[in-house]
Amino acid sequence: MLTSTIDKLKDSGTLSKDELCHILTNFDRKTLDYTNRQAREVSQKTFGNKIYIRGLIELTNYCQNDCYYCGIRHSNPVVERYRLTKESILECCREGYKLGFRTFVMQGGEDPYFSDDCIADIVSCIREEFPNCAITLSLGEKSEKAYRLFFKSGANRYLLRHETYNRLHYKQLHPKAMSFDNRIKCLNILKNIGYQTGTGIMVGVPFQTIDNLVDDIKFIENLRPEMIGIGPFLASKDTPFAKKNNGSLDMTLMLLSIFRLMHPKALIPSTTALATLSPEGRQRGIMAGANVVMPNLSPTEQRRKYSLYNNKAALGAESAEGLLSLKNLLKEIGYEISLEIGDFQR
Ligand code: 5AD
Repeated sequence: MLTSTIDKLKDSGTLSKDELCHILTNFDRKTLDYTNRQAREVSQKTFGNKIYIRGLIELTNYCQNDCYYCGIRHSNPVVERYRLTKESILECCREGYKLGFRTFVMQGGEDPYFSDDCIADIVSCIREEFPNCAITLSLGEKSEKAYRLFFKSGANRYLLRHETYNRLHYKQLHPKAMSFDNRIKCLNILKNIGYQTGTGIMVGVPFQTIDNLVDDIKFIENLRPEMIGIGPFLASKDTPFAKKNNGSLDMTLMLLSIFRLMHPKALIPSTTALATLSPEGRQRGIMAGANVVMPNLSPTEQRRKYSLYNNKAALGAESAEGLLSLKNLLKEIGYEISLEIGDFQR
């Protein structure tokens, strides 16, 4: 019964809210396996057995925001804060380039120390030194002017998860100073400017309902982002949600496959959160239709400090130096790393 709804999703690329709600409420292991298999087929049709790699550089763990779920929130006093210098960021890129990376993802907290001009300068320098690479930014909410400046300086992609499309839920996850409307506005601006844009959610974040997830799926269907980031919520110590439960592996994999079936060409990472939640998380994500992994290129001594959640996977296959172990892990499930830039524009 549910499998015929999955077939319908695969054929038409869409389902009604009621159908999505029905699947998310009632799926069992068999349906999950079936959905993962269908999604994998779609992914293989588009990308073959190739997985794109992106080098993640964590610029700063200072953040002016105070999201209740996030380990580097402003009012977490326990975090040892750091910022990378421009030179060490460029060093990370050089290191990454040698290893074969052709996309650099600069992620960071919303840290006013990195002014718009400062970010633009870093982007320009990377662009100049690596003309054949993609530059992805993941630096939160900025002004339209700033987003335009970064784009002009050479950035191609921007990741900004909407986190939830339900206003009330957004308020339950963020303090008053943060605005749902501004988050959505930023995403529309990014798309308009011409960025390959990524958005997404955490699965199982506190107060999330099935209806919320259905609304997230529909929002993403309408936005048509090039990239979709989806991982389980992981309770992070020293945050207001420290005692909450982690998100579910099965629900994350189900949603990942639904996104793949609805967006055959989208770039969907098998996230670090997924790899942290379960030892097979990384592989399971790929087997559910993901086609991107983002190993960590940050300087090793800073890595542990960028702790959005505890015990973040950062070694072996999660790290840039561990590309060989990633290769082996992928090989075991019949996949291989692609060294292509891996662009996608709708
Ligand atoms: N668990 C899982 N993901 C998290 N993020 C932030 N905190 C957590 C957490 N505790 C995700 C958010 C953010 C992205 C950079 O990391 O979705 O957008």
